[in-house]
Amino acid sequence: MSHIEQVKVWDPLVRIFHWTLALSFMVAFITEDEFMNLHSFAGYTVGCLVLFRVVWGVIGTRYARFTNFVYSRTTIINYLKDILAFRPKHYLGHNPAGGAMVIALLLSLTGTVVTGISLYGASEYSGPLAQFWAGSSHFTGKVLEGMHEFFANATMLLVVAHLVGVALASFQHGENLVRSMVTGKKETVHED
Ligand code: HEM
Repeated sequence: MSHIEQVKVWDPLVRIFHWTLALSFMVAFITEDEFMNLHSFAGYTVGCLVLFRVVWGVIGTRYARFTNFVYSRTTIINYLKDILAFRPKHYLGHNPAGGAMVIALLLSLTGTVVTGISLYGASEYSGPLAQFWAGSSHFTGKVLEGMHEFFANATMLLVVAHLVGVALASFQHGENLVRSMVTGKKETVHED
């Protein structure tokens, strides 16, 4: 006999983290260099959320931990091949490709936040890195601006790939991953 069982996968903090991150990133991306106050507020929020997630990735609940979703390069590549062959294994937490995407997003978001705060310090002489960038040239400001835009656009590309991945995985496994990120629950077949 087998029956479908509901499993708690994403704890409340992961879910709150996720949706505030998605909102803050979109707000920061849209406001760009207009509405500077809103832009920097959204950016600082992203920074705090990323910091929180790194800590939670070490001390958090089972499926939130890095050890639960960071896989070797071979496992990730084999998983991607299995997606193409339409026979990917089902994972309760992040699958190997999803786990790699989480890391890529966190790194790219970190790059965006660090270059953003640096740019703010170098060109507006404000923010936490104002002292560090004090006296920097106009050229430095331009370089930081280019880097900030690069990271922001790279993050946006990753987000698009993230959404494609979520849609594909939901389709291949016949489950609604977006709903799981809201309710925290996933379904699994339990053999008695
Ligand atoms: C409407 C837009 C979005 C939807 C529907 C969505 C959906 C999801 C879903 C379903 C998962 C869980 C994937 C799984 O089951 O393995 C997830 C995870 C994640 N998403 Fe999104 N996402 C969206 C936007 C974003 C944005 C804009 C970002 C970042 C800028 C983002 C970053 C992440 C991260 C970091 C995780 C890992 C969650 C964790 O383990 O803490 N997402 N997303």
